[in-house]
Amino acid sequence: MEQNKLIPKHIAIIMDGNGRWASKNGKQRLDGHYEGVNSVRNVIESCVECGVKYLTLYAFSTENWGRPKDEVNGLMNLFCKSIAIEISSLIEKGVRMRFMGKLSELPEDVRENIEIAESLTRNNDLLTVIIAINYSSRVEICDMVKNIAKDVEEGKVDISKIDDKLINDNLYINDIPDPDLLIRTSGEERISNFLLWQLAYAEMYFTETLWPDFKKDEFKIAIEEYKKRNRRFGLVTE
Ligand code: FPP
Repeated sequence: MEQNKLIPKHIAIIMDGNGRWASKNGKQRLDGHYEGVNSVRNVIESCVECGVKYLTLYAFSTENWGRPKDEVNGLMNLFCKSIAIEISSLIEKGVRMRFMGKLSELPEDVRENIEIAESLTRNNDLLTVIIAINYSSRVEICDMVKNIAKDVEEGKVDISKIDDKLINDNLYINDIPDPDLLIRTSGEERISNFLLWQLAYAEMYFTETLWPDFKKDEFKIAIEEYKKRNRRFGLVTE
């Protein structure tokens, strides 16, 4: 089946506003993150329903380690629990799970859950969900530069051959198309060290809605807005 060109093939999301949702509702910050998982489930279902093929979610940045210890531990726990609870329904839906970031620096139980989720869903291809965890785009770019520099030093790559494709080949995940649409919730209008290379031609959609309130209706509104965009990729419109 040919993909509808009006539907983004790859959506990336900065899930922001969990803490503000919690204080607005008289709850603890972690309650906001827990409700955020319900939004993740809604968005995954919506992507499957409308034929989006790739969804990248920014779950934890390298900077997030600086949050209070209780919140960091609570988030790590939440990642483990959510993966364990959701995995069978993800398999049933045909979802493949992948993870991207400095995974080796994560606590052992999180790494174990990641390995299980990746291996149990490896043959699914209806929708690929990539969770960016302990992720920093600048660190990813530094790692890419180091890889290429090493190949140059060892004579495997000639400097004149460094191009878009070689750079892409040396990023953490290099076998999927760039995001067509970036969504950021909660009214902030920044990229915050997320997919700096990959977002070169993405459409940006910012909404005041806090992530825990971003459910199927909000997703639909974002898609409708995307459909109105005129993507030119540096060319001119006919
Ligand atoms: C940003 O809101 C959100 C996070 C740092 C955590 C996002 C994580 C989840 C929604 C859980 C996802 C789980 C899986 C398994 C993918 P914030 O805390 O910065 O909100 P604030 O700006 O209002 O304080």
